[in-house]
Amino acid sequence: MERIREALNKSKATQTSSEMGALATDKTVQHQRLQETESTPGVQLSNPISVPIDSAHLEKSRIVSYLMKNVDHVAFNLLRTKILQTMTENSWHTLAISSPNSGAGKTTVAINLAFSLARQRNVKVVLVDMDLQRPTVAKKLGIDVSKPIGQYLLGHVEILQCLVTVSDNLVLVLNDSPVSGSSELLLGQRGKELSSKINEAISPDIIIYDLPPMLSSDDAVGFLPFVDCGFVVVDDGSSKYSEVEQCDKQFSKATNLIGHVLNKCSDKANSGYGNYGY
Ligand SMILES: Nc1ncnc2c1ncn2[C@@H]1O[C@H](COP(=O)(O)OP(=O)(O)OP(=O)(O)O)[C@@H](O)[C@H]1O
Ligand SMILES: [Mg+2]
Repeated sequence: MERIREALNKSKATQTSSEMGALATDKTVQHQRLQETESTPGVQLSNPISVPIDSAHLEKSRIVSYLMKNVDHVAFNLLRTKILQTMTENSWHTLAISSPNSGAGKTTVAINLAFSLARQRNVKVVLVDMDLQRPTVAKKLGIDVSKPIGQYLLGHVEILQCLVTVSDNLVLVLNDSPVSGSSELLLGQRGKELSSKINEAISPDIIIYDLPPMLSSDDAVGFLPFVDCGFVVVDDGSSKYSEVEQCDKQFSKATNLIGHVLNKCSDKANSGYGNYGY
């Protein structure tokens, strides 16, 4: 695993902010709103349906950023700060999370990061379950889905109908079952305009997309060009260096790669808090 860590550190050092800024779009308004963090009263969401959350269920799913009883939540606060700084500097507001292969912890990281970001006053966050083949956000949160994202992508419903809110500043777009023809749907018109439709509906500051793994289908690679930036979750126990390298190359070609989250760290001394490292 030392090789992966060394490679990740090297990659962090070589990511210059000008490289990351090359594809930045003009999002001055969002930029200003992110800079206002913690200085103005919390945002009230209107249209999305509010759904209750079962905190015992969250604990079982390793969602630590909601109750904040487990020390691992500090790791997500650190990640939140790094993400906010980078996105603000570059005027980015859509963020993708992927990994080389399945099971690295993308969804767990995405949900924890979303809760952590949403605790910042005036940072309104949308988390979208964009893994159309193995959607698990709703399952991990213990929420029943009435209007899955697949229905929007197929043109059966509008995005506003798919939004549910679970806390003051956190809105979710969920899915409950595999969608066939997922890569064509993601690349289609409705996939392409998803972020702008969400913006029109509720003007969030950050939209997080929980994507499928990069190396097992073309879904993630196809959707990444529609996103400003993202990071790769690496499983300390099972991700191979060659796979991380391949994944990084594909990711960087498609959008701005901010960095990596080293998950399930076996070596606590080298990780950040708990078993997460950046
Ligand atoms: N830091 C961690 N330590 C131990 N187990 C973890 C950690 N993070 C996630 N897991 C567990 O690993 C499994 C896979 O996590 P998760 O579903 O978040 O991965 P994923 O990358 O989204 O998977 P998929 O590719 O199937 O979407 C889950 O059982 C989860 O609880
Ligand atoms: Mg997942």
